[in-house]
Amino acid sequence: MARNYQSRKRILVTGGAGFLGSHLIDRLLERGDEVVCVDNLFTGAKRNIEHLHSNPRFEFMRHDVCFPLYVEVDEIYNLACPASPIHYQHDPVQTTKTSVIGAINMLGLAKRLKCKIFQASTSEVYGDPHVHPQTEDYWGNVNPIGIRSCYDEGKRCAETLFFDYHRQLGLEVKVARIFNTYGPRMHPADGRVVSNFIMQALRDEPITMYGDGSQTRSFCYRDDLVEGFLRLMDTAPDVAGPVNIGNPNEFTIRELAELVIGLTGSRSTLDYRPLPQDDPMQRQPNIAVARDKLGWEPKVQLREGLERTIEYFRDFVN
Ligand SMILES: NC(=O)c1ccc[n+]([C@@H]2O[C@H](COP(=O)([O-])OP(=O)(O)OC[C@H]3O[C@@H](n4cnc5c(N)ncnc54)[C@H](O)[C@@H]3O)[C@@H](O)[C@H]2O)c1
Repeated sequence: MARNYQSRKRILVTGGAGFLGSHLIDRLLERGDEVVCVDNLFTGAKRNIEHLHSNPRFEFMRHDVCFPLYVEVDEIYNLACPASPIHYQHDPVQTTKTSVIGAINMLGLAKRLKCKIFQASTSEVYGDPHVHPQTEDYWGNVNPIGIRSCYDEGKRCAETLFFDYHRQLGLEVKVARIFNTYGPRMHPADGRVVSNFIMQALRDEPITMYGDGSQTRSFCYRDDLVEGFLRLMDTAPDVAGPVNIGNPNEFTIRELAELVIGLTGSRSTLDYRPLPQDDPMQRQPNIAVARDKLGWEPKVQLREGLERTIEYFRDFVN
């Protein structure tokens, strides 16, 4: 619903110069809110928000969430954290600090302001799951000392903090567990499967396939995901989550590669490599809670989302 001067909110988005944060900000500004975007530009990019600088309702602050922040806002979306394995493994200590100290700082801010706060958690809290598809009441199977642990355990600890602030201090929290999401403004070199495959296909390079390609993933288009964020934030105060937000349609990695090759008209072939450590074999959300509490489900099919994403990536190839 469009906001007018009286109903307009001032909203903080951390990680707002990133892939998902910048889309969330587009949606918040479109409906008439004011946005304070906080980002240290570790994986985010100025180009993701450059179209917003002439908007008087948009403000950018270069800031690391590991340090306290004092701003006056009505709502907080906490997205700051590198999301792709090559980025979060680049400086694992900083990754854990961003999730944990960042959560403490943002929760402290929300407590001072008595405002509701959203956390971008992840399907990685389920680790290599024994339950399939994953429901929110599954506690996960996570290696606490592996190379992915800085991200997985950092996000798990952030969830703990969110629920303790909720129980102990009565803070209104909204925790979303995000599954693989793709779309325009993904970092072209972030090493995630969709961006990897598209860039390799557009360059007619061999497509890197870890394992035999039979591991499955579900892919959610970014517009669907952001719609889920907004709906979760608008739920009644007792809906804290966690809520899985993702696309339950499951594809093997080999199917994804073949679709990308077909849509790009590429001459790429498949290049099989060993599976990396702790790479889960299956990942698929059960979204019954999102359907029930948010009236939400994804609408964009993989083929359509890939076509839009491929168009975006073409600019990075020529
Ligand atoms: N994209 C996905 O498929 C996916 C899946 C699960 C969870 N998530 C979560 O969603 C959020 C956004 O992910 P994304 O895909 O947009 O990733 P992204 O890397 O594009 O965005 C993360 C943003 O956070 C910023 N950031 C990192 N550390 C920071 C710090 N210490 N202080 C301030 N800013 C910092 C980065 O510069 C970047 O702009 C992340 O929290 C991520 O864990 C994403």
